[in-house]
Amino acid sequence: MALPKLKKEEIPNHVAVVMDGNGRWAKKRGLPRTAGHEAGEAALFDVVQGAIQIGVKELSAYAFSTENWKRSPEEVKFLMGFNIDVLRRRRDEMNDLGVKIQWVGRPNRLWKSVIKELEVAQALTKKNKVLTLNMCINYGGRSELIDAVNDIASLVSKKKLKAGSITEKELTKHLYSPKMSDVDLFLRTSGEHRTSNFLPWQSVYAELVFMDVLWPDVTRQTLWDAIEIYASRERRFGKA
Ligand code: FPP
Repeated sequence: MALPKLKKEEIPNHVAVVMDGNGRWAKKRGLPRTAGHEAGEAALFDVVQGAIQIGVKELSAYAFSTENWKRSPEEVKFLMGFNIDVLRRRRDEMNDLGVKIQWVGRPNRLWKSVIKELEVAQALTKKNKVLTLNMCINYGGRSELIDAVNDIASLVSKKKLKAGSITEKELTKHLYSPKMSDVDLFLRTSGEHRTSNFLPWQSVYAELVFMDVLWPDVTRQTLWDAIEIYASRERRFGKA
């Protein structure tokens, strides 16, 4: 594996990943879908290390969406337990690498045991500065915006904010992770060309890169290939 030779300004600050294709990877091998999720863990942590090596500062991983509750009760249960397990097994290693773990998502409906594990990981890694890893669990872009709007409406009704005065900056303060930076590179695997309710507010100027590889087959090289594509794009942010 070769680290691409790129200038600092060609490296995205924030990469968002939709880790898609676990189910299909497992099916191709005659395995249960959950085996695909299990195989996806190594891919995520290789990508974390590749992100650190190349100088990405923030990585957002879509680990469970607000729509994933529609999956079979067995798969939902597996994914909840698996998230707990992964956080427990990986938090020390992430801490040693200087990774700051941050949960991004809606508390409603999410298992309390998952929230507790996220809080432990956040507390352990809160001072780290090498890379922020946003674990997006029970995350949905629309629910994030609805929750922000409801917060703001309640402040308006208490006369703490004025209707008609809400700015982008104010709305950002009410997102699940107000400090999150805009997404530069939005990467989805498995050949699907959709963004599926992932970080819509933060991704309005993101470069979208879709790759055919199934998530469990992803390595840090896949991230680096996506970054080379990103570096070849011209970003204008509305300018001519
Ligand atoms: C999509 O594949 C993947 C998910 C629903 C997210 C879960 C991701 C992982 C478990 C990998 C990393 C692990 C953790 C805990 C961070 P899919 O099931 O939609 O695949 P398919 O489209 O082929 O059915």
